[in-house]
Amino acid sequence: QFPLPIMPVKVPTTSYTNATTGVTIDFYEVTMQAITKNLFPDLGDANLVGYDGQVPGPTFRIPKGRETVVRFVNQFNRSASVHLHGSYTFDGWAEDIIQPQQYKDYYYPNSQTARTLWYHDHAVGITAINTYAGLAGMYILDDAAQDEALDLPRGDYDIPLLLHSRRYTASGDITDESSELISVYGDTFSVNGQILPHLVVEPRKYRFRVLNAAASRTFNITLQAAESQTNKKFHVIGSDAGLMSNPVETESLVTAMAERWEVVIDFSDVAGQNVTMFHADCFVDTAYIGSDKIMQFRVGTTVSSQVGNGPLPATLVSLDLPTDHVTIDQTFAFGRTNGQWTINGQTFSDAANRILRNVPRGTTEKWQLTGGNGWSHPVHIHLVDFKIVSRAKTNQNLTTGRNGVTPYEAAALKDVAVLGNNEVVTVLAKYAPWDGVYMFHCHNTIHEDHDMMAAFNVTALPD
Ligand code: C2O
Ligand code: CU
Repeated sequence: QFPLPIMPVKVPTTSYTNATTGVTIDFYEVTMQAITKNLFPDLGDANLVGYDGQVPGPTFRIPKGRETVVRFVNQFNRSASVHLHGSYTFDGWAEDIIQPQQYKDYYYPNSQTARTLWYHDHAVGITAINTYAGLAGMYILDDAAQDEALDLPRGDYDIPLLLHSRRYTASGDITDESSELISVYGDTFSVNGQILPHLVVEPRKYRFRVLNAAASRTFNITLQAAESQTNKKFHVIGSDAGLMSNPVETESLVTAMAERWEVVIDFSDVAGQNVTMFHADCFVDTAYIGSDKIMQFRVGTTVSSQVGNGPLPATLVSLDLPTDHVTIDQTFAFGRTNGQWTINGQTFSDAANRILRNVPRGTTEKWQLTGGNGWSHPVHIHLVDFKIVSRAKTNQNLTTGRNGVTPYEAAALKDVAVLGNNEVVTVLAKYAPWDGVYMFHCHNTIHEDHDMMAAFNVTALPD
C-alpha cells in the first residue's frame, strides 16, 4: 500500500505581458520521453513514455484568462500529436504529427469556463499505445473567485485523480497491446500512476477531479466505509465543461474514458475509518476480470482548516445551454463494418470521405448517436460543449441499455457522451466559436485507432 502521488504543478519558463491589453502569456516546455518506472516492488521496471518523463504528466493549473504557449518536444521514438481535451482549439489533429526529435508550439487561449481538461497523445493510428504507455496529464483551468464565492473545497482540498487500467507482464512491464484490435480493458487499476494507492484525508469535505484516462475501461465508482455495508453518498459538482448547474447527490458514478467528473466527498461522518473506492462493471463489454478496488481513503480525526468546508450551495452556475429544437439534424451510427470500427460505415483513414457533416458556424444542431451490437462507445466531439438531451434503448425488448440521462449528466455540459450497449443518445451543441475541420470519435482508443473517427466542418459565414 503506497500513498497517492500528486503530480507536480508545471512552472512556466517565462512570461510576457502585453502592455496594451494587459494579457499575460505564460510559456512552457514539455518533453516527451521514454522512461522506466518500478510499479511492483518485487518485479522489474515498466517501460513507459511520459510528459517530462513522468507518468502521469505534470499538472497545469492555469488561472482563467491567462494565455499559454506550450512547446512539446518529442524525445521518444514514435510520432506524437498533442491534444488538449476540453479546449475549443483545433490542436491534436491526428495527422498533425510531431516526429521524433522535433517540437511544436501549441497556443491555448484559456478563455472558456473554468474546467478540468487533460492533455494526451492523439497520433493517428497509435493513440492507444502512446496513451497506454503514459502520455496523459491534467490541465486545470481555475476560476479562484468563483470557487471562493461558492466556498468550494480548494487548495490542498482540491485533488486530481487520474484513473488508469492496464495489464502487466510477469516481469512487471506493461503489456504490448500494439496488435490489439478490439479493446484493452486492463485488470489492474492505478490512480495518479500508483496501483491501489491510499490517501490520508481529514474528516471534512474534499473536491476530487476524476478523470478516466484508460484505453477501454469504463469505471463505475462507489464508496464504502470499512464498517458499513452501504454505499457512502457523495455529490457530483462538475463535469467536462466545468461546474454543473447544481450539485447532484449519488451513490455511484459511471465514468467512461475521457470523461471528467468533479465530486465532493464529505468524510466528516467517517472520522477514523477507512473508505474504499470500488469499481463495478457496468456495460456488457467490460465484463472482464479486473480488480474491484480503485483506492482507499484513510480518514483522520482532526480538521486543520475550515476553508471550503461549509454546506454546498444549492445552485452552482447557470449553464450556457444551447437552445433545444425538435429536429434531429444528423444521425451517426457507431458500429463495426468489415472488421473495422466505423461511424456510419466510414473510417478516418478514408480521407476523401471522412467529413461527415458541414455545419455553418454559430448553428445549433442536434445529433443522434447510435451504438449497439455488444459494445459501448464514449463519443467525444471536439470544439464544443454539448447537452445530453436524451438516452434510450435502441429496442425496448433488449436486456442491456439504459433509458434516460443520469441525474449528473442532466445537470452538466459535456464533451463526451457514453453510448452503452444498445443505447441511442442525442446531443445538442452550438458549433462555434471558430470555423474549421474538427474530429469526433470514440474515446476507446483502440476503436479510435481502428478507425472509429471522422470529421465535421464548421463552415465560415458569408461576409
Ligand atoms: Cu481526448 Cu479527440 O480526444
Ligand atoms: Cu468505441
